[in-house]
Amino acid sequence: MKPNHNENDTMTSAILVTGGAGYAGSHTVAALLERPDTDVDIVVVDNLSNAYRPEGQKKPEPLRIIEEMTEKTIHFYDIDIRDAAGLCRIFENHNIDCVIHFAALKAVAESVEKPLEYYQANITGTCTLFEVMRKYGVHKLVYSSSCTVYGEPERLPLDEGHPTGAGLTSPYGRSKYFCEEIMKDLCRSDPKWMVISLRYFNPVGAHPSGKIGEDPNGIPNNLMPYISQVAVGRLKELVVFGADYPTVDGTGVRDYIHVVDLAEGHVKAVKLFKQKGFSGFHAVNLGTGTGYSVLQLLSAFEKASGRKIPHRVAGRRAGDIAANVADPALAQRLLGWRAARGLADMCADTWRWQRTHPNGYRGE
Ligand code: UD1
Repeated sequence: MKPNHNENDTMTSAILVTGGAGYAGSHTVAALLERPDTDVDIVVVDNLSNAYRPEGQKKPEPLRIIEEMTEKTIHFYDIDIRDAAGLCRIFENHNIDCVIHFAALKAVAESVEKPLEYYQANITGTCTLFEVMRKYGVHKLVYSSSCTVYGEPERLPLDEGHPTGAGLTSPYGRSKYFCEEIMKDLCRSDPKWMVISLRYFNPVGAHPSGKIGEDPNGIPNNLMPYISQVAVGRLKELVVFGADYPTVDGTGVRDYIHVVDLAEGHVKAVKLFKQKGFSGFHAVNLGTGTGYSVLQLLSAFEKASGRKIPHRVAGRRAGDIAANVADPALAQRLLGWRAARGLADMCADTWRWQRTHPNGYRGE
């Protein structure tokens, strides 16, 4: 693929999005391309381990749809981030200015069974990417982190000063924590690095067009996709994991954040790199600051979908905490970002996607 050239015959600058065909990645690609002021190329690298590309099609389905929606081109490479030579080719072909790094494995329970696979993909992959970035003099990085790095909360809401790394219950969680520590070391080693580690709370929802959304492999582990698959008739009933937590109604409380708000947080982070004097490692929560219980989410979803969602209460799920809520003040201060979409939007947009795509991107 030939690099693009602008009027001055310099190569158009590009943002590399690893894992850009996945759930958070694809919504971020859409957010970047939907901005009228975007004058950068978007380059996606994804090994398709959790994304769908129909046979004979060049690009994964969510990227094809985003190209259609925005009438813009996305450069796509079917490459694993552990493939250093493959990554180097991308940096040779495009004028990469910064990287948004989503590519990772993320199923918590699976990570307990397959720790080496998780550390390989999430840590070796991340280090390989950083080595290639350094080789090509690219030091701007937005990292897809998780509130899981805080472990069991000592206080709520969780601010970025809360300790991280203690009491983590899965290799997935530890891989996110280790990557943050690696990025801190990188920033200490060379002041050229600019790293924004976005600690996501619970991303849910879908693009308001209903054309892209979350498409989990197999039976979903997370609450919102599970509820929406029950609503659409793919699954029989929701099992509520524990109703004896010290919360408003005994069920677990989480800070759900609309994936489009999350995506916009990444766009704001990329803009921050332009700020004079910006450097070093910055961890920033992306959450709303409001928590909802399992039953509150269920009831909001019933309202949005107009369907009754069968459910029953069972015991707690191992590793779960009672409540988790972000302090989103730093995101507002540093990025000028705050979540704009509430629970009703999250449910309505999830439902629009689910009802029009009962089997995700794979169609009927
Ligand atoms: C999970 C991960 C977390 C990850 C996040 C991504 C675990 C233990 N944690 O967080 O590391 O960053 O997803 O979004 O997997 N629930 C039910 N029934 C279900 C599913 C969930 O009652 O079928 C409850 C859970 O007990 C919890 C709430 O719903 O109280 C949210 O669960 P989930 O969507 O899995 O997110 P987290 O556990 O917060």
